[in-house]
Amino acid sequence: MSAQIIDGNALAQTVRTELAEKAAALKASRGITPCLAVILVGEDPASAVYVRNKVSACEKAGFRSIKEVYPADVEPAVVLGKIAALNADPDVHGILVQLPLPKQFDADAVLEAIVPEKDVDGFHAENVGALMQGNPRFIPCTPYGVMKMLESANVPLKGAEAVIVGRSNIVGKPMAMLLLAQSCTVTVCHSQSKDLAFHTKRADILVAAVGRAKMITGDMIKPGATVIDVGINRTADGKLCGDVDFDSCKEVAGAITPVPGGVGPMTITMLLANTLESAERTLK
Ligand code: GUN
Repeated sequence: MSAQIIDGNALAQTVRTELAEKAAALKASRGITPCLAVILVGEDPASAVYVRNKVSACEKAGFRSIKEVYPADVEPAVVLGKIAALNADPDVHGILVQLPLPKQFDADAVLEAIVPEKDVDGFHAENVGALMQGNPRFIPCTPYGVMKMLESANVPLKGAEAVIVGRSNIVGKPMAMLLLAQSCTVTVCHSQSKDLAFHTKRADILVAAVGRAKMITGDMIKPGATVIDVGINRTADGKLCGDVDFDSCKEVAGAITPVPGGVGPMTITMLLANTLESAERTLK
């Protein structure tokens, strides 16, 4: 039997329509337009596409956006100066620096330079700590999107075995915190894990976030499992594919997300949600 496909495009559309309505209401009632500032350094093609998609999603939802682009060899002080100006601008509600940054940057120092109240990525140490304490200010967008997808597919979480492959600060670690907060039993696997398939086969919920094309195959998953694919890779012939081998896994899984059209659209949707939330908080 083939798995239920969790359609990220459809869910993203539904949530973005709600966010656009809320943004319009905020503007009409309080004269506030949610505004996201995005900083891109360098010419990495994938980052340029992500930033373009973020800005375009803002426009479609009636948000304001500011896009600042710097050459790869820019002095970090220039970018830090721009962050300071955006921090001080009351009309800006979210600030995002697209990662990765070129070598001359201390990425942690850049993330710490954003005031936590505008850190819609949820990457500032203060916000990471708040998430870990179970009291998040901003939930990092990709794991937040995954939680929305699990909710929309009515996946039971309490007591479920959740296995995450990948331990990045952007996905793996915050994903573990969110699933733990919903009372999953959480295992985090990584490149040094000894017997990956042993772990993945035990998962009721498997989240793949490693960045290796089609590395999770059908023989590595438990029948009926929910499989969430965070990977975005390109095959030799230029096609997009995830970390999950969709064709073999969909025959074993109970539910699965496709690539493209799965987690990707939800990540940007939750960025909009965080930006709106930040704008609404200025009223409190
Ligand atoms: N690079 C890859 N994913 C992300 C993300 O979610 N936020 C930022 N700022 N950079 C990224």
